Amino acid sequence: MQTPFHLNGKTVLITGASSGIGRRAAIDCAAFGAIVVLTARNTDRLNETLGQLQGEGHNIMPCDLLDEKAISALAKAMPPLDGIVHCAGLVKPFPVAFLNAAKLNEIMYTNFYAPALLTAALFKAKKIKDEASLVFLSSISGQFPGKGNAMYASSKAALETFAKTVASEYISRRIRSNCISPAMVKTPMYDYSSEGMFEEAMAEHVSKYPLGVGYPEDVSNAIIYFLSPASKWVTGANLYMDGGFLLSNG
Ligand SMILES: NC(=O)c1ccc[n+]([C@@H]2O[C@H](COP(=O)([O-])OP(=O)(O)OC[C@H]3O[C@@H](n4cnc5c(N)ncnc54)[C@H](OP(=O)(O)O)[C@@H]3O)[C@@H](O)[C@H]2O)c1
Repeated sequence: MQTPFHLNGKTVLITGASSGIGRRAAIDCAAFGAIVVLTARNTDRLNETLGQLQGEGHNIMPCDLLDEKAISALAKAMPPLDGIVHCAGLVKPFPVAFLNAAKLNEIMYTNFYAPALLTAALFKAKKIKDEASLVFLSSISGQFPGKGNAMYASSKAALETFAKTVASEYISRRIRSNCISPAMVKTPMYDYSSEGMFEEAMAEHVSKYPLGVGYPEDVSNAIIYFLSPASKWVTGANLYMDGGFLLSNG
């Protein structure tokens, strides 16, 4: 039987490929047959990811996505793409009264401007092929924000709206654009979020996940689906992945 769950012959760009979900997605995309272009700022950690990829032809293109000129240069240097996975992201929780423009700019730029500008630059440079698939990593907080998460949640809500707009603008070229919205996934970002919480508070939060918290491979499996021909009829969607958290806490 021929499975539609494959990435054979596809070239996929993954941002945030030096860590967490992006690293896992890179490893899995290569295992499913893709040629992968990896980007993030940290070259050493990108090379660590590269060293774990099956197959030939993968490469790293380090880039600071806070730099608009660097984004434009990255887009110009890119091969034609069948898939893009926007994993780069940043969380810094603060109560509303502690927000200021510098803090907002850092989060909004990393989580919203950067994927939006990179998408725009790739379209402008004609690097996104017909029938390509774009995947944006949002979060359940985009629609179900928690206390202290105003900046992150707002940046993800903006990203979801952007992803839907791309879906509608490019459907005539059969280019698809979807979001994945996970709850807590065990990555360095999870560790960073846990550091700001008392152990008991974290344990209580984790106890609200009937299926436990997520692992990078749980999200990566969904990324493979959205990139593969198996999802050729799906665009403008947002997949919640939360181990049952929202069933009892939404
Ligand atoms: N983990 C969770 O619980 C969770 C839940 C819901 C949604 N998400 C979302 O899933 C995505 C991946 O999260 P993760 O947990 O895998 O995070 P992570 O392990 O902290 O990785 C974040 C990645 O973003 C890259 N990055 C950050 N700022 C960048 C910049 N200015 N330029 C280029 N790259 C930058 C980092 O690379 P460098 O440091 O090398 O630049 C790193 O590869 C994020 O969008 C996050 O919001 C995560």
